[in-house]
Amino acid sequence: GAAQPVIVAIDGPSGTGKSSTSKAVAAQLGLSYLDTGAQYRAITWWMVTSGIDIEDPTAIAAVAGKPEIVSGTDPLDPTISVDGTDVAAAIRTQEVTSQVSAVSAVPEVRSRITELQRSLAAAAEQGIVVEGRDIGTTVLPDADLKVFLTASAEARAARRSGELKGADVAATREALIKRDAADSSRKTSPLAKADDAVEVDTTELTLAQVIECVVTLVEEKRAGK
Ligand code: DC
Repeated sequence: GAAQPVIVAIDGPSGTGKSSTSKAVAAQLGLSYLDTGAQYRAITWWMVTSGIDIEDPTAIAAVAGKPEIVSGTDPLDPTISVDGTDVAAAIRTQEVTSQVSAVSAVPEVRSRITELQRSLAAAAEQGIVVEGRDIGTTVLPDADLKVFLTASAEARAARRSGELKGADVAATREALIKRDAADSSRKTSPLAKADDAVEVDTTELTLAQVIECVVTLVEEKRAGK
């Protein structure tokens, strides 16, 4: 009969190659793909654009249910919109990046976005690769496979500044460390490795090697090992 849908959770800090890896694994295995960081960025973009005071968690909580966030789950064309507006580019600005940790720490924001994530995962007929910070621990604790990607701070900063085309590596490194510390220390659903996650240190690996490693892990799970 048809294979059971496979649910893959990929967590880890910024700059470990989560997005590139998750997209490629999903495309290669015919699975859906969800970038949960993009959802937190989208709600942050909406808060900033709507003039909500980002320093005020009560103000954020009060409007957390307002924006309609829609994620397209095709790994070859992942889309993200807020109230019908395509925000794929707008959510990658420095302004959104610097505010997203504060917004995503608010419990009302997390419960709202978590609900969206669970319904998208449940709707994926072949299965889905979901990448984020708390997927294996909180969003999908029953995932078939949990991967936790790590890399040295130097490697992560170098990759991120490469993506940002020539951004200063030292400044990128400081910003990354600050954001990871905030994401790891928040009270609600912090960045954390699930006890049953497979940790993959990507510092010395190429992207192709990380993809191959995760594809193999999924195939082993599917074969019932
Ligand atoms: O993966 P990213 O850098 O686009 O994520 C942006 C921010 O969103 C990250 O700093 C923390 C937050 N985030 C989160 O709190 N939980 C997730 N599952 C994914 C992202």
